[in-house]
Amino acid sequence: MNLADLRQRAKAHGQDHVFAFWDKLAEPERQCLASHLFAVDFALIDRLKHEFLAANAAPVAKAKLSTAPIVALPKTDAERKAVQAAHAEGEKALRAGRLGCFLVAGGQGTRLGFNSPKGCFEIGPITTRSLFQVHAEKIAALRRQYGAKVPWVIMTSDANDAATKAYFEEKNFYGLGKDSVRFCVQANMPAVAPDGKLLLESKSSLALAPNGHGGSIKALHDSGALQWLRGLGVDTLFYFQVDNALNQICDPAFVGRHLLAGAEMSSKVVRKRDWKEPVGVIGHIDGKLGVIEYSDLPEDLAKATDPGGALTYWAGSIAIHVLAVGFVERLNKGGFQLPYHKARKAVQCIGPDGAALKLKPGEKNGVKFETFVFDALPLARATVTVETAREDDFGPVKNAEGEDSPATARAMLTGLYARWLAAAGCTVPRKPDGTPDCRIEIAPGTSLFGEGLEKYRDLKIAPGSDVVI
Ligand code: UD1
Repeated sequence: MNLADLRQRAKAHGQDHVFAFWDKLAEPERQCLASHLFAVDFALIDRLKHEFLAANAAPVAKAKLSTAPIVALPKTDAERKAVQAAHAEGEKALRAGRLGCFLVAGGQGTRLGFNSPKGCFEIGPITTRSLFQVHAEKIAALRRQYGAKVPWVIMTSDANDAATKAYFEEKNFYGLGKDSVRFCVQANMPAVAPDGKLLLESKSSLALAPNGHGGSIKALHDSGALQWLRGLGVDTLFYFQVDNALNQICDPAFVGRHLLAGAEMSSKVVRKRDWKEPVGVIGHIDGKLGVIEYSDLPEDLAKATDPGGALTYWAGSIAIHVLAVGFVERLNKGGFQLPYHKARKAVQCIGPDGAALKLKPGEKNGVKFETFVFDALPLARATVTVETAREDDFGPVKNAEGEDSPATARAMLTGLYARWLAAAGCTVPRKPDGTPDCRIEIAPGTSLFGEGLEKYRDLKIAPGSDVVI
């Protein structure tokens, strides 16, 4: 397509305002704008505009939600045996080198108000250990424990790719070896105004945003990462988010459940702490397993309880999945489209006069469109959903303060390490409310899942002190 065609196409879709400053642009600037515009799927933007933004757009169809089968935390001996069998199966796969890790870290982390990639955020309760470091050290420990390569793919976005790579270079890949860590960049989607018009970030560029973590299914394939994993003998991927400091990476029991069931995509859930908790809910949506995002869950359903007073839709997705490599390949081969979701967000852009728009605090002037990886669940031939204990697996860093903040994640880490030490026979000082009266940090290289801490049985921990192991 040449430039004249491009202009014609933009005009045909009511988007010719993007050329408003064209005549005043220098050649490299024109090239930049043209490259952005060539990548725009105008028909898709039209469709999304009609679906979500038009005055007569139908409200998001109320999906029929019902509860789905979930493997709950074990209570009986038989259930505990089943966990052991799954654990053994997961360990076998790890030892055989079938596992790879897949981290999605392309988000913009706006809620945390941190300007670098979120993974660089220092989360150690005592040390300056960053989220990326916690994940990297766990993967290093898995490699040692199971004598396997456990390759790692990290998805970034244009917004943070260079900074993420520079960070890993600077940290020498935490000793993992550069050849065993691979980055893939997710695609962008143009941000639009509430009337569906493309927004310009500058006179020579569109306002673009990462296309949501659903973009990972295609990014894995298009970047060659999937083929690379296959070449290393990996057929099972452990998927996780950058913001979860606790996450038991490659948890053998979870991986084993997935493998024993012959599943294509599996998920971990926790019991929601209350009806308002901002986590997606796993259930049957119109008869198929899926996640209904917290922002889409009607309040009456979120609040619904069973006769015992427990939430009916208690299963909060913590965005930890196992994906069969064959599933991701199948989707990419067959052609697939995950549904788009709309989010009103603040978007940095210029106004019709070419000057940067000054946004009021909290003003959401734009609309971003994203796809979500959990929308691949209904496409999987078999799935397993497993309950996990929040205190073992889910300490997300989302907000600067309050719930799901660095403070709560650090407290959860100390809580976890305190339980590990107590289980090894060590006495941990406690406050009257039962929380540890000290700060504890255990390196993943020392203990990955709480194992091997018996030698700390006689460790004396003074109230109010710091313990780094
Ligand atoms: C997400 C889930 C929610 C789940 C919760 C658990 C979505 C839409 N919702 O909510 O169901 O219960 O986590 O913590 O994800 N990311 C990308 N590229 C993108 C957008 C995001 O890689 O384009 C990554 C982020 O880097 C992050 C993760 O996806 O690792 C989650 O993104 P975020 O927007 O923070 O999701 P939440 O609203 O917290």
